[in-house]
Amino acid sequence: MKIPFNKPYMTGKELWYVSQAHANGHLAGDGEFTKRCNSWLEEKIGCKKALLTHSCTAALEMTAILCDLEPGDEVIMPSYTFVSTANAFVLQGAVPVFVDIRPDTLNIDETQIEQAITSKTKAIVVVHYAGVGCEMDTIVEIAQRHQLILIEDAAQGICATYKDRPLGSIGDLATVSFHETKNIISGEGGALLVNSERFVERAEIIREKGTNRSKFLRGQVDKYTWVEKGSSYLPSELVAAFLWAQMEEADDITKRRLAIWNSYHQSFATLEKQEKLRRPVIPDECGHNAHMYYLLLANSEARDECIAYLKDQGIGSVFHYVPLHNSPMGRRCSRASGELNNTTQLSSRLLRLPLWVELGALQTDVTKHIILAAG
Ligand SMILES: Cc1ncc(COP(=O)(O)O)c(C=O)c1O
Repeated sequence: MKIPFNKPYMTGKELWYVSQAHANGHLAGDGEFTKRCNSWLEEKIGCKKALLTHSCTAALEMTAILCDLEPGDEVIMPSYTFVSTANAFVLQGAVPVFVDIRPDTLNIDETQIEQAITSKTKAIVVVHYAGVGCEMDTIVEIAQRHQLILIEDAAQGICATYKDRPLGSIGDLATVSFHETKNIISGEGGALLVNSERFVERAEIIREKGTNRSKFLRGQVDKYTWVEKGSSYLPSELVAAFLWAQMEEADDITKRRLAIWNSYHQSFATLEKQEKLRRPVIPDECGHNAHMYYLLLANSEARDECIAYLKDQGIGSVFHYVPLHNSPMGRRCSRASGELNNTTQLSSRLLRLPLWVELGALQTDVTKHIILAAG
């Protein structure tokens, strides 16, 4: 591909920090670099506790264990999300209950959450699609009134805000991803963010194979032992060292991505006026992070033709997500609340464009070809 869909951005300091971790001789998790990354997240997001994990998937699995689910318990979420959002809860015996998305932001439709709640509902998981916040005031109110655990899947949401509050700071628990397709990266990587004090101690235990090793390392107990369900969710220091180089430049990376996003947005204004396509909608209360630039074309045929045309020009573009309620596993282990018409229709029209920090002048080519294909 002349213009790949994604190209991971390196700040230049990654290998220097990895070599420092190597020199420190501490390669397993929870060394100096992990501590730095956790503190950065705690400050940036304002959460009570941040714990690096080896992926956002791992962090979601930790949230599901923290929910203490019984087989058959229900967890409300959008069907328009990555498989890990649902899979984490299915692994604990729960049933995902899918709610439709809003036509503007493609985030969960907060007005349809309440009718999905039953006596078995234990949690609501929101997904901040494209780093644009869900309507959190309404969702927090519903969760509190029904005493449900609120989880933010902020895989795409680092450095974004809702009403000036960082995404990931609003639910009881939240998760972020540092996969190489995200804004700040460590290859694979993620973090669990804990906002409710009641989950802090267990979160540490679950991440440390179900043991109280963290307490032992802090000198709070004189030996460590198996106290809970858990697994190994820590990334190694080498991963944390790499990530630290990215965290140091997170604000600059976000600024540079926003410039590319804004340029796309301006370029497609006329096509939107002519009703040839639809651009992303950012509500006034959301400060997004330019994680993604997508377009909604007239229908799935137009979208597929556009992807094929761009491919012929050497430009990588992709669609996603394939709604989970229609997937083979989704049909076996979940249920939908109401019709999921927006989910089905909008996902079939969506096209994601290349958006990476060093795209530079190549962006003009992408724009030109979209205008030719969709105009
Ligand atoms: C909404 C959402 N949740 C979870 C994940 C999983 O993230 P990871 O690859 O870090 O496990 C992704 C990945 O793209 C995602 O988009």
